Amino acid sequence: MDRWRTIIEPFRIHSVEPIRLTTVEQRDAALEVAGYNLFNLHAADVLIDLLTDSGTGAMSRDQWAAIQHGDESYAGSPSWFAFLKGVQTLFPFRHVIPTHQGRAAEKILFSVLGGPGKVVPNNTHFDTTRANVEATGAEAVDLVIAEGRDPAALHPFKGNMDVAALERLLDERPADVPVVFVTVTNNSGGGQPVSLENLRAVRAVCDRHGVPLFLDACRFAENAWFIKLREPGQGDREIPDIVREMAGLADGMTMSAKKDGLANIGGWLALNDDALAEQCRNLLILTEGFPTYGGLAGRDLEAIAQGLREVVDEDYLRYRVASTEYLGEALDRAGVPLVKPFGGHAIYIDARALLPHIAPLEYPGQALAVALYREGGIRGCEIGTVMFGQQPDGTESPAAMDLVRLAIPRRTYTQSHIDYVIEVVIWVAERASGLRGMRIVEQPPALRHFTARFAAV
Ligand code: F0G
Repeated sequence: MDRWRTIIEPFRIHSVEPIRLTTVEQRDAALEVAGYNLFNLHAADVLIDLLTDSGTGAMSRDQWAAIQHGDESYAGSPSWFAFLKGVQTLFPFRHVIPTHQGRAAEKILFSVLGGPGKVVPNNTHFDTTRANVEATGAEAVDLVIAEGRDPAALHPFKGNMDVAALERLLDERPADVPVVFVTVTNNSGGGQPVSLENLRAVRAVCDRHGVPLFLDACRFAENAWFIKLREPGQGDREIPDIVREMAGLADGMTMSAKKDGLANIGGWLALNDDALAEQCRNLLILTEGFPTYGGLAGRDLEAIAQGLREVVDEDYLRYRVASTEYLGEALDRAGVPLVKPFGGHAIYIDARALLPHIAPLEYPGQALAVALYREGGIRGCEIGTVMFGQQPDGTESPAAMDLVRLAIPRRTYTQSHIDYVIEVVIWVAERASGLRGMRIVEQPPALRHFTARFAAV
């Protein structure tokens, strides 16, 4: 293991999917039809799809085999019990409520806990989490540490919560905070991990104020790997053990199995509070389904149960984080401004720094994402003013950062695909001063990044 420096994919390919090369002219035409919104593209027109790491990973032989064991009984299926065991092995919460994906768990939880006058703190809310909080009339506040807002600041746990700011909020509005959330890893802040030390400190504040702590645990395994690598005293621990400690510090969690569940669909809400679980299950039945399948088929439950065994494997996590870092290091050497240190699931290009001639309200992230697709067929995702600039009152203001995320689907692309991405990004970055900003010509009242249409300024 220690003899060779190259960290290889710890798998070989068993089934292949074609990807299609297109020309710049074809992609220009596709962009026009899509209103310059990469969510509107046909995926078949994308060569390397780094839009998201959510539900886009490759399942293993053993997951496909598990799917054959899927039992589609409406109630009490063996697949449900396999899923329950898989979840509770890592997250020993009393109640596990399966949902079709993470945001369904958020919707249910905040429907019970949210409402006008309430405020939900998080290190950084993901867009759906924020939208689900705000949809109830509650307020979503981001309290990540100062380093977490500075793309260039180096800190081993840039996803940490600002504990003093949390304490202040709880002192000022003791009756208004129904739950404190910590997102691991902090996706909107660059895929940055949260330390055990920080989770313990947040737990202590929550205890003093009698407020429950929930994890948005989408990328829990990557977070645990960073804890093992970076946190003093954690290097010899097993990953499942670190995950259980993270879970033990919380009262509940929301989860998207499309990330560290290594599945294409699925999620859950888990918690200890009996009365709250009862209320959530009643809502689950209205929209997702009976509590032993939620929004999922028995086969999905099986795929997740197996995925949870594979995602905590150290060979997998070493490769996962090293391959993301490989992309980051190559772009960094070429001088492309990036969020550092590199996160686990994605590399984030600092579009505001790369395109200083484009004002935030002319969406430098969108301009860069469109250019990467136009030049190389690479689909990334703007995480900036398009995604977060729209305020609930209809006004617009610049987001804290304008980033383009290149999210790496799990176990899907090889090193040569990534070498191609590196070549294209560097080519575009070298010509960044020629890119123009964008304006929005059409947008919905919320979550506009999914459907807005754009034109060049
Ligand atoms: N929380 C975090 C931190 C997420 O990253 C996501 C999804 C969700 C919640 C919602 O989960 O998609 O299963 O409903 N993130 C994806 C992404 C979509 O591209 O980062 P979901």
